[in-house]
Amino acid sequence: MQLPLLPFLLLLGPPRAVLTLEPPWFNVLQGDKVTLNCKVFQTPGHHSIEWLHNGSALPIHQNSYTIPAVNIENSGEYQCWTEHTTLSNSVKLQVSSDWLLLQVERLEFMEGDTMILRCHSWRSKRLHKVTYYHNGKDLKFNHQTFNYTVSQVSHTHSGSYYCQGNMGHSTHLSPTVVITVRDPRPSTSSSSKIWYYIPFYLVMGLLFAVDTGLYFTLKREINDPKKNTRHPLTLGT
Ligand SMILES: *[C@@H]1O[C@H](CO)[C@@H](O)[C@H](O)[C@H]1NC(C)=O
Ligand SMILES: *[C@@H]1O[C@H](CO)[C@@H](O)[C@H](O)[C@H]1NC(C)=O
Repeated sequence: MQLPLLPFLLLLGPPRAVLTLEPPWFNVLQGDKVTLNCKVFQTPGHHSIEWLHNGSALPIHQNSYTIPAVNIENSGEYQCWTEHTTLSNSVKLQVSSDWLLLQVERLEFMEGDTMILRCHSWRSKRLHKVTYYHNGKDLKFNHQTFNYTVSQVSHTHSGSYYCQGNMGHSTHLSPTVVITVRDPRPSTSSSSKIWYYIPFYLVMGLLFAVDTGLYFTLKREINDPKKNTRHPLTLGT
């Protein structure tokens, strides 16, 4: 998604910094390793990268920031920038202390997007009998791939999700994650826009008709001072 955007970003004034998470999950467990990558689209050269966490500067100037074992205080909003770029997108990180977590890249998807869910255990302890649930219903999935993937989401994939798994002899449930799938076509707003424009076009059309009528009336009177003696449709000379 970022590469085709690049030429447009370059056209739209100052270059932008783009911040991504690796692995891509916005929600992680305490102790997980997380790397934030800051991509700066600008001419090569030395540029010191600045980082913000919850709006405060971090004492880091590399283009990637690795937290080997996250804790709760690492939660929050991250952004990066250089003096030659605008501020990057804001990346949210949510750290929790649970046994099990249903990881997602984000909570909002557009219809047609790929959605990957991952049932993740604390310290990646061995998990057995993993089950994913959507609105309380057990989801069939390929146990070989472990992740639950929907290659093209539709509005039917909105709703609440959680996973369940066994660690040793105990069964654990992840907290629930609520996902929203949106329709990218702004159908309702564009049809309401048409209704908004109709009075405008009616008024413009009326003005044009009145104006044209006035023009021909005037022209007729100028060309033919002895009105009504000549054919009214003879316009001009
Ligand atoms: C950043 O904000 C998040 C969420 O508001 C909070 O949980 C976290 O403790 C904050 N961390 C710092 C260092 O300000
Ligand atoms: C699950 O999805 C993540 C993110 O796309 C990927 O990095 C990981 O390899 C996947 N895990 C498996 C077992 O396929």
